Amino acid sequence: MCGIVGYIGDKQAAPILLEGLSKLEYRGYDSAGLAVRDGDKKVKVVKSKGRLSGLAEKTNDGKSLKGNCGIGHTRWATHGEPSETNAHPHVADDGTVTAVHNGIIENYQELKEKLQRHDYNFYSQTDTEVVVKLIDYYYKKYQVGPIDALAKTMVRVRGSYALVVMFADYPGEIYVARKDSPMIIGVKDKECFVASDVPAILNYTRDVIYIDNLEMARLSTDGAVFYNLDGDVVPKESSHIDWDAKAAEKGGFEHFMMKEIYEQPKAIEDTINSALNDGKIDLEAMGLKDDIIKDISDITIVACGSAYHVGVAAQYVFEDIARIPVRVELASEFRYRNPILNEKGMVIVISQSGETADTLAALREAKEMGIRTLAIVNVVGSSIAREADNVFYTLAGPEISVATTKGYTTQLVASYLIAIQFAKVRGKIDDKQYDYYLSELKTLPEKINKIIDDKDRIQWFSAKFANAKDVFFIGRGIDYAICLEGSLKLKEISYVHSEAYAAGELKHGTISLIEDGTLVIGVITQPELYEKTVSNMLEVKSRGAYLMGLTSYGHYETEDTANFTVYVPKIDEHFSACLAVIPLQLLGYYFSVARGNDVDKPRNLAKSVTVE
Ligand code: F6R
Repeated sequence: MCGIVGYIGDKQAAPILLEGLSKLEYRGYDSAGLAVRDGDKKVKVVKSKGRLSGLAEKTNDGKSLKGNCGIGHTRWATHGEPSETNAHPHVADDGTVTAVHNGIIENYQELKEKLQRHDYNFYSQTDTEVVVKLIDYYYKKYQVGPIDALAKTMVRVRGSYALVVMFADYPGEIYVARKDSPMIIGVKDKECFVASDVPAILNYTRDVIYIDNLEMARLSTDGAVFYNLDGDVVPKESSHIDWDAKAAEKGGFEHFMMKEIYEQPKAIEDTINSALNDGKIDLEAMGLKDDIIKDISDITIVACGSAYHVGVAAQYVFEDIARIPVRVELASEFRYRNPILNEKGMVIVISQSGETADTLAALREAKEMGIRTLAIVNVVGSSIAREADNVFYTLAGPEISVATTKGYTTQLVASYLIAIQFAKVRGKIDDKQYDYYLSELKTLPEKINKIIDDKDRIQWFSAKFANAKDVFFIGRGIDYAICLEGSLKLKEISYVHSEAYAAGELKHGTISLIEDGTLVIGVITQPELYEKTVSNMLEVKSRGAYLMGLTSYGHYETEDTANFTVYVPKIDEHFSACLAVIPLQLLGYYFSVARGNDVDKPRNLAKSVTVE
């Protein structure tokens, strides 16, 4: 989705804005622009369609745009095609207001007509131009300053926004307003930053202030002042972000995705350790005391995409070891279904970014119904983290590649830890089983390293099949959950069509798609289901499929069925998703590389989906 950076301070703004925007490139965009102001001179705007390098070229790496105050934007088109005209910043006709915006203004058509009746003309097809001119309208009509004009605009617009605005009459100041779109304010001596995402400002400051929904702020070299909709000042504390700026750089890897695959052992180890106290799982710090855990009647897991796949795997683990009923829901469906939730139930939302619009809306829906909510989130201070009753932070660090890897596996580990603790507190496992599960979890980092060491075989195999038309993934139980994620990893970055099927379902329709040479990947890590899935693999093999088997060391008989077999180290079967997904992440990666795709920034996708 779109990216925002703003700067006010004693340095030249444009190079800082360009650098900040480059750190947000991973979010996906199709055009970019800057607006910079030199003292009380007129704001200068430069925009360019396509890559950020175009904007850098036009401004001589920012050097030709002089000034200490500016805003920048990378746009991912929603209203209006990708073009220089539609790119942000947008400016009111006489230059009174200049702004960039993330989000969607739902009633922009109605507002546009209102403004047209007041003689406003529009040069672009964007909802942002409408909001800029609405601010201009209120600013001029009431003449009580930027905060008042912004507040009036916020009351009038429907939708989501992170708005960063410069007013011609207020040089040296930047104004921001926020509703349901991520935005953070960075602070430093005599400097203020605003960004839609942490990596944009990590090189400059790690002290941030979170702006809440329906709040505004005025940024200047004196710092940031926050306001509510009534225009009253809201006191705020700053927080320190632990992420290292280097963590958001490629560090010698060709792609962020491969770097992040390599970071998984450490991220998992950190996530496990963060939940341990004296060697035992301790969920009290995140608000889950034993009497609360005992009292919970059932769990509803709500998430999108890969995070939803974590939920599918976690459901098997929770139900099997903690014997608590769990259902898993896609956030985009949950919120429009008028769901029936048990008042003693708990809703777990899972989100790497903590900003996914549908997941956030589902969380709010559950909260409105008075249901306890727990969020498994990676980004500290994100909207979901701030709004959930309890938070389990995964310690994956910044995830830049659009296709999630370490985000997914750390979410899995967080849900395993919660499931084990629920099982123990609710008396479903004894101390011995508890110790066993915990010690198995601790073997994950070393085992993942082993799988990564063996990546050349996957690379070779991927090069051979990179031209495949369709790929099918089949498995049962937790293996089915692994298939869902493996299939998504493959299709989203290689653009090869793939589907995941519960192995037993294939016969109910999909098997008609199997032709001579179709690649079918059978995931068989669950000992009890091994033979059943192998039978399903044989069914497709006899119809011409080329079979890849993905199983644990020891199941060497797989080679009697599969044409090519990949082994992962043995682990307790409940946790196998966390290992078996690694070769599938590598498969997606190498398919994508072999097909010459942009691995980290697949077409049409954005890292953080902040619109419905
Ligand atoms: C796929 C992927 C997405 C995300 C989904 C939810 O590789 O990354 O499917 O998992 O968009 O995102 P978060 O976890 O940020 O809510």
